[in-house]
Amino acid sequence: MDKIVALCKRRGFIYPGSEIYGGLAGTWDYGPAGSLLKKNLKDLWWKQIVQMRDDMVGVDAAIMMNPRAWEASGHVEAFTDPLIECKVCHKRFRADKPEDIKEHETLGHKVEGKTVKIEWTEPKTFNLLVEAKLGVVEGDQQTIYLRGEITNGVQVNFKNVLDSTRVKIPFGIAQIGKAFRNEITPGNFTFRSREFEQMETQFYTHPEASEDWYENWKQNRMDFYLSLGVNKDKLRFKDHDPEKRAHYAKAAVDIEYEYPWGWDEVMGIHNRGDWDLRRHTEYSGQDLKYRDLETNEEYIPYDIETSAGVDRSILVLLVDSYTEADVRLFLKLHPSIAPYKVAVFPLLANKPELIDKAKGIYEDLKKEFMTAWDARGNIGKRYASQDEVGTPFCITVDFDTLNDGAVTVRDRDSATQERIQIDSLKDYLRNKIYG
Ligand code: GAP
Repeated sequence: MDKIVALCKRRGFIYPGSEIYGGLAGTWDYGPAGSLLKKNLKDLWWKQIVQMRDDMVGVDAAIMMNPRAWEASGHVEAFTDPLIECKVCHKRFRADKPEDIKEHETLGHKVEGKTVKIEWTEPKTFNLLVEAKLGVVEGDQQTIYLRGEITNGVQVNFKNVLDSTRVKIPFGIAQIGKAFRNEITPGNFTFRSREFEQMETQFYTHPEASEDWYENWKQNRMDFYLSLGVNKDKLRFKDHDPEKRAHYAKAAVDIEYEYPWGWDEVMGIHNRGDWDLRRHTEYSGQDLKYRDLETNEEYIPYDIETSAGVDRSILVLLVDSYTEADVRLFLKLHPSIAPYKVAVFPLLANKPELIDKAKGIYEDLKKEFMTAWDARGNIGKRYASQDEVGTPFCITVDFDTLNDGAVTVRDRDSATQERIQIDSLKDYLRNKIYG
């Protein structure tokens, strides 16, 4: 894991949040390569979920909401983790994470040179919602919550979407956005952060069809990670034990990945039943029932939710693609999400005719593909640095190019090279990247 964290910093994927001020626990900043990778993942997800499906629409709801929405959704009361405190050092831990507790006990404490036995406080429930103050009059400000999950912004717009589009059940609403949680123990790099991003679908069905749709979305989401090339032996489903399910869930399953620290959650698929719409009906006084115009049946739909962490998915992609082979180190990222699709180099940096030719190709390619330019050092070093950001193709303009109109294209994963005519480069890349 340390190698991946170091690579992320070195190559501009992920930096510690507010680093020059000593950081802020549980926050991370995405650099030039990381922000591209994140955008590519979100764009691909949106394309597959919203653009390519006829039964999905998207929304982009406000992060700040009327606090009643969080009472209705049960988060004010039940969005909690059990917290315990070490009586010796006063560090706080989650009581439901025995591995963390054991590690702390194993490390032990010394007081006046003597090892003392660690004792814990009784577990108490700790609410994860992050509060903020809104309003301009001192003393008269409203306490609001930064959203603990992005779901509520969709649920409160269920009726708006019904009234403003032609959707009919079964249909879903997709959203991507930031969520905030006062996590007791942020850690494992970006895995558990206090600010993170989610990509969610809420899919509304007739109650009787909900179990079939649950199975359908389960497989659909597993296929998404497989289609990005994630090693299938490192992915699995893990059903939630009934007593561990979130307060809203009738059924819940995680997709897990085998991270360097072991199997852990990537995303969840939940049957939220009619929990959200029923509670928002109660708390808002608005009728959120659905009326089937063909049968005249009126009912509160069930919601099958898929909820993926963007950051956690990025972490899986980084861990899974990290490849050390012989003397090479490269990120075997799927070309469709790689930050840069292609890099262009002049063979020698002191030959204006090579630089002019290479610049022309670079300017042309970057209209369609995120393209990197590098004329520093030798070719070997340029390949090495592109390998570490996961650029799938590197193009070199050499003296032969000036005569035959062809360039050398080098493949990141195999390190093999082939000559391609400049005229065919775009087709070649399109095929390889999206083909
Ligand atoms: N709307 C349902 C929901 O939020 P969740 O299981 O609490 O369900 C869904 O969160 C996903 O959001 C998780 O599977 C994970 O990918 C991501 N996530 C949750 N908490 C996170 C955190 N503290 N840091 C990073 N990602 C987190």
